[in-house]
Amino acid sequence: MTQLTEPVYYHQGELQMESSQIRTLAGKMATPFYCYSEARLLGNVRRCKDAFESRGIQIHYAMKANSTLHILRLIAEQGLGVDLVSGGEMQRALAAGFPASRMIFSGVGKSRAELNAAIEAGVGRLEGNQTESSQFNVESAEELALLAELAEQQNARVSVALRVNPDVSVNTHKNITTGQKGNKFGIDMERVCELCQHYADHSHLAIEGLAMHIGSQICDTEPYRAAIGKMMALVDQLAQEGVEITRLDLGGGFGISYGQGDALDFETIAEVIAAETERFHGTVIVEPGRSLVADTGILVSRINYVKAAEPRSFVILDAGMNDLMRPALYQAVHPIVTVNEAANGTAQEYDIVGPICESTDTFARSYPLSGDLQAGDLVAFLCAGAYCSVMNSTYNSRTIIPEVMVSGSEAKVIRQPVNQQTLMAFEQDMPAL
Ligand code: LLP
Repeated sequence: MTQLTEPVYYHQGELQMESSQIRTLAGKMATPFYCYSEARLLGNVRRCKDAFESRGIQIHYAMKANSTLHILRLIAEQGLGVDLVSGGEMQRALAAGFPASRMIFSGVGKSRAELNAAIEAGVGRLEGNQTESSQFNVESAEELALLAELAEQQNARVSVALRVNPDVSVNTHKNITTGQKGNKFGIDMERVCELCQHYADHSHLAIEGLAMHIGSQICDTEPYRAAIGKMMALVDQLAQEGVEITRLDLGGGFGISYGQGDALDFETIAEVIAAETERFHGTVIVEPGRSLVADTGILVSRINYVKAAEPRSFVILDAGMNDLMRPALYQAVHPIVTVNEAANGTAQEYDIVGPICESTDTFARSYPLSGDLQAGDLVAFLCAGAYCSVMNSTYNSRTIIPEVMVSGSEAKVIRQPVNQQTLMAFEQDMPAL
């Protein structure tokens, strides 16, 4: 049976988030929808700050995990910086109140337009506040050359960190490792010195930092120790060659528990990072995404059919892989619970699927839920706050589902659904080219 953890729990037989009943919310709006807990979000941010900031480590939220404006605003208000990977994310971060002086622009394929917009917005500007960090995390010699050209055109001088590929192996799903040879990310360690030398004393670029991000959903501290060890050795080597590194961005990737299994809590990883970087005198930065938002959200869905079949019956939901992509893409299992606790009674195993015309639209196989499930019953996917709503699509001409934020017994819609009319409106005019 799935272990429920605060803020999602049963009260008098009904699933609640904080003190709001999920059934009541589902009576007020169409399913499926995402629902988040404000208290949990703020609690996660506080625990993260307590662990990292108390050790002098800066936090930049990796907004790709969840970029709904209201969630961004709450995080910006807590004083965190942001890690972004596209021009669109920059627009959202600015709209949510993150100043450019707290933005790190990562990403392996930033376009000319995106780099220009970010320089113009003030990302990486050097005369900034020393207590904040803003920089371009550059992933190739080619990108560095383009950034130099564009900074010169705008007569700006920007701070750069070179994202290094430390080539460490990580025990996580193969689709979410990023710091091994053969991954498209980062610059080979052997090339870093040469690039630093080449751009030493450049009038528009200052290579001040090194960055890494070795993967996601990592529950073990060893790969971090190994990778940070390599980064520190590189800092030393650069120092011998007269290049001073003053910022170390160690990325995110801290694993959470999806109902069962290990997690890498903020205290544990903060302690490891602090110990491994003890002799580094500059600023240390982390970029957590999932660990700040995953357990703040659930996806509420209704059963369309319980279809009798061999070897197992199917529970066919109104949510599909377009709404929640992680199971299809990474074979991820999000715990599923019934909204009515009694329906957790005598369990039977089902295959839990969505309505999309694809066999990959399968959320879980042989999953135990009550033997009395009926069409119309509500279920919730847990730990659906990170990489869930942000990865949606409109495949099968489905719409974009709404998002709700709960605070105590109050709830508000933080993102309206995008209906078919709106989607079709983009296809009315067909301008000639
Ligand atoms: N920094 C960089 C440069 C990143 O690429 C990422 C994630 C993060 C930070 C944040 O990592 P986190 O703390 O969230 O693990 N869609 C996948 C995860 C992809 C992660 C991509 N990069 C999933 O649903 O599991």
